Amino acid sequence: MRTAQIDIHLTDADADAALRADVLAGLTASPKHLPPKWFYDARGSELFEQITELPEYYPTRTERALLERSVDEIAARSGADMIVELGSGSSAKTRLLLDAFTRAGSLRSYVPQDVSEPALQLAMDALGAEYPTLDLHGVVGDFTRHLDRLPGSGRRMVAFLGGTIGNLLPAERAAFLTELRAVLAPGEQLLLGTGLVTDPAVLVPAYDDAAGVTAEFNRNVLRVLNRELGADFDVDAFAHRALWDAENAWIEMRLVASRPMTVTVAELGLAVGFAAGEEMCTETSAKFHLDGVRAELAAAGFGVAQVWTDPQERFALTLATAEG
Ligand code: SAH
Ligand code: TRP
Repeated sequence: MRTAQIDIHLTDADADAALRADVLAGLTASPKHLPPKWFYDARGSELFEQITELPEYYPTRTERALLERSVDEIAARSGADMIVELGSGSSAKTRLLLDAFTRAGSLRSYVPQDVSEPALQLAMDALGAEYPTLDLHGVVGDFTRHLDRLPGSGRRMVAFLGGTIGNLLPAERAAFLTELRAVLAPGEQLLLGTGLVTDPAVLVPAYDDAAGVTAEFNRNVLRVLNRELGADFDVDAFAHRALWDAENAWIEMRLVASRPMTVTVAELGLAVGFAAGEEMCTETSAKFHLDGVRAELAAAGFGVAQVWTDPQERFALTLATAEG
């Protein structure tokens, strides 16, 4: 018999407290920064879906093509009865995994987990209709805080796709992987999608598209602050900027103040000044080398079972096993 349920680990009050703490810390820091998880309100998640369709945004279609080629092999190697997906969003590419694991005969349940309740709800509604025999168990939660509350045990494969791990800073990434390893039993698996270091002429446009969708997405975080915290950002007075930091091997997304401004955040009792041209970091998206992925996984107690890359080596899928 199929079941469908959603666990809420991030209540409105909880999210509100976390948002306040993040915004207070980020806007009073020098240089200013905002953490990326607050991009994803209903509109932010919708804008991200549009990004995945852009001609410049190669990661999604590259990862999808990789999955198309490798899902049956992944399912055969894995044998998992439960797929848990972190930052699942619309679960669009995940359907390839669900289909392959169903063909292989092992799959019983799918656990999508996302910080964005509207995105999760939309995905669950569609999946419920498409996969009537699968147990669906949605989790609204933060993968930097709530990994210990993931359901299931024994034969899980945790999928973390889209290169989202690159949105964590190196120290956060190490903590994340260690925490994930700790909640898995030996033998349980991680399927990790990572963007690889490639030509900046390819990388930068992926985060600064001609149609300006990514710019809208970036500015959306200011709309979230206006709505949730009573801030008065003049959203159009901030320009989008994406740059490749070769030393850190990450794309950095910034919002640039086009004129001097004082912004009030009513609910924090905060007034912050922006100088003309001042840049605020809103996201980093790290790109990897294959040996780096392997080393970070090994440091956290995962052994690499197999790696798949596209012919241009722009993206990698790594199947890793939690070691005993
Ligand atoms: N996996 C999808 C979506 C990637 S976009 C894909 O590959 O296309 C990143 C997703 O992670 C968004 O859906 C966002 O809401 C979610 N997300 C971002 N930070 C998160 C966090 N800290 N915890 C849980 N989900 C998070
Ligand atoms: N995980 C995605 C990535 O790093 C998220 C993303 C794509 C993104 N484009 C963006 C985040 C633009 C902020 C702004 O590729």
